[in-house]
Amino acid sequence: MDWGLRNRITRMFPSGSGRSVMLAVDHGYFMGPTRNLENAAATILPLLPHADAIALTRGILRTSVPPTATTPIVLRVSGGATILKDDLSDETITTSMEEAVRLNVAAVALSVFVGSSHEHQSLANLGTLVDEGEAYGVPVLAITAVGKELEKRDARYLALACRVSAELGAHLVKTYYCEGFSKVVDSCPVPIVVAGGPKLDSIEAALTLAHHAIDEGAKGIDMGRNIWQSEHPVAMLKALRTIVHDGATVREALTTFHAATAEIPLVAPPASR
Ligand code: R5P
Repeated sequence: MDWGLRNRITRMFPSGSGRSVMLAVDHGYFMGPTRNLENAAATILPLLPHADAIALTRGILRTSVPPTATTPIVLRVSGGATILKDDLSDETITTSMEEAVRLNVAAVALSVFVGSSHEHQSLANLGTLVDEGEAYGVPVLAITAVGKELEKRDARYLALACRVSAELGAHLVKTYYCEGFSKVVDSCPVPIVVAGGPKLDSIEAALTLAHHAIDEGAKGIDMGRNIWQSEHPVAMLKALRTIVHDGATVREALTTFHAATAEIPLVAPPASR
């Protein structure tokens, strides 16, 4: 593997555990101003110091993240459909590799829609992006998207989608956790990170999902709504870090979560008149 490509991957998976806690805030590219991401900068900036990488579009990167930030960037480069359409799979490459390099990103990411009406197109997008990524030393993260068909998220489908992505050259794959997840991991020769999906009923449920995923072989998480739609996003991210990096149990992570919510932010006393 080329030096630049390997260096970029290493930046996203810091030494120690060798795993990664990625923060996904790329939802606006097809959802628009979804809940708690209306003001992207307000959501992102407090979370940035606690993430090993952040996944977003170039528009939100340029407008809402200061260029002094050192958190590795996973740049979403596919798009072209929105939630106003039933079929979300009609995507193309929306951002060039030159632009990704100009933005000094650690990786580019695109969705692949295996089994959808635009399966061929999204897989061709992946092949093109991998060719460009290899040429420029930029790793490609394939996201096994299911559009609105959330029920597709089972081991048989996800193993197929992850394996096809790896066969076409993806350096990393993002997929969903599912029952039998270790089969998905075992048949995918590149590292897998796990998305959270729509917000779950409780903090414990989201931590449990992350714990199972890591336990069954995921190299990290790339989670969004279960972090920034929670009442305490920073505490949630801190708790997830203990699972991913320190091998914490769900109970231990919950303790971290509650301790973090109890931290009183230091605020300057009101100026006396
Ligand atoms: C879709 O918008 C993206 O691939 C998300 O980055 C991915 O689904 C992870 O976000 P969440 O944990 O909210 O599903």
